[in-house]
This record gives sequence, C-alpha cells and structure tokens, in this order.
Amino acid sequence: RHPGWPAKLGPLRVKAGVVAVRGPRLFDASAWSRIRLRDREHLERWEPSAPGSWDDRNSTLAWPGQWSSLRALARRGMTLPFVITVDDQVAGQVTVGNVIRGSLCSAWIGYWVASHLVGGGVAPAAVALVVDHCFTQAGLHRIEATVRPENTASLRVLEKLAFRQEGLFKRYLDVAGDWRDHLCLAITTEDVPDGLVHRLVSDGRAAIP
Ligand code: ACO
Repeated sequence: RHPGWPAKLGPLRVKAGVVAVRGPRLFDASAWSRIRLRDREHLERWEPSAPGSWDDRNSTLAWPGQWSSLRALARRGMTLPFVITVDDQVAGQVTVGNVIRGSLCSAWIGYWVASHLVGGGVAPAAVALVVDHCFTQAGLHRIEATVRPENTASLRVLEKLAFRQEGLFKRYLDVAGDWRDHLCLAITTEDVPDGLVHRLVSDGRAAIP
C-alpha cells in the first residue's frame, strides 16, 4: 500500500450538488461512457491525443482497460485516480499522475466535469479535496497543472484555488492532434497551510454538509 491510497474524500456542497471523490470502480463503465460519448465536443479539444476513435476509446468496453491500468498505477504509488460524484452520480474525474517522491515529492493533476454540471463549482471542490489529501495523506509537496492558455474555464478553476502561474511550456503536449503550448501552474504545501477546502469554504464557494 502507498500513502494516501485508496481514499474516499468529501462530501462538499456546491451550487451543482454534493461533491465527493472516490477510486474508480469497474461498475462505473456505463455512467462514464454515457457522459464521455455525449460530451465529446466539450472534452476532446482539451485532452491528450490518443490512438483510435473517440467512440471506441470511450465506449463501455473501453472502461475495464482504463480502470485496471489506473488501478495498477495506483497500487504502485504512481497515480491517485479519482472519480468525481455529484449527488452520488458519476460526474467526472480527477487524476493525480506522475507521482515522483524523493526530493521532488511532486505530481501533476488533471480533471474534467460533465457538461451538464459546468459552472456549478464541481471541479474546484473536487480538486481542493484531492490536493488537500495529496498534501496531508499522500506525502506530496507540490502539485502542478498544465493548461492550454485558451482554456479559460480551467484557468478559472485554478485561480479560485490559488495555484500560481509559473511559466509557459512551448509545444508541450499533444492535445487534439497537435503539439500545444501550455501554461504551467502550481501550488506547494506552504501556500495553503489551512488547506484548499478551508479556502473554498471561507470564500463561500463550498460548504461542509
Ligand atoms: N460553459 C462553459 N464554461 C462555463 C460555464 C458554461 N456553462 N459556466 C461557467 N463557466 C466558466 C466560468 O468562467 C467559471 O468561472 P466562474 O465560476 O468564475 O463563473 C468557470 O467556467 C469554472 O467553473 P467551475 O464551476 O468553477 O468549474 P467546473 O466544475 O465547471 O469545471 C472544467 C471546469 C473542469 C474546466 C470543465 O469546464 C471541464 O470539464 N472542461 C472540459 C475538460 C477540461 O478542460 N479539463 C481541464 C483540462 S486542464 C487540466 O486538467 C489541468
């Protein structure tokens, strides 16, 4: 077992409903696939390119493979993969990846939320729960988020959470079929001694039910 895994975090109440995060389950296949197939337009332009068609990669049959590789990486302490739920229904994912320990103790974070819930404060709540967990339970010191400069909604999420902008990575990641520039934002434990959930609650963006 690795520190901080497995874990169930939350709940937090936001405008869209009651947000919690938990590890992915094999059973999530149909809910996950239904959202991903419907939300191609909303998601594809922000996600890393991958071989195969969108429909194949996001079919119910594609989930067991994703689930087992996420679980294998989590068991080796390399990833902390979470499914976001709103009112107990699958609503998106937050993944902490490339966990490096030693004198770095750092990882990246990535997330998506179903289109019918956007603007409801779900991503800030889920990311706050996960970052606090990484800092207090998983022994990490720094979390990094790389975002396309065009992705104003995602930049707004990170702004609400006090991530600071650290630089621009040129032609950094293959997203939607080309090498795209990404802004690098990050947060370290010193930035949030009381945690990000505390910050969201103080700002009136979330409540502990
Ligand atoms: N449609 C589009 N954008 C909207 C809408 C809407 N209907 N409503 C609000 N927004 C914008 C607003 O600017 C809002 O900021 P505000 O609350 O100050 O008005 C901003 O989105 C963020 O809204 P939140 O409720 O805080 O966050 P949300 O739960 O909607 O999630 C997210 C934001 C994750 C970016 C979501 O839009 C999404 O899944 N997008 C597609 C995938 C994606 O871009 N993921 C992030 C990739 S980068 C990374 O992972 C580091």
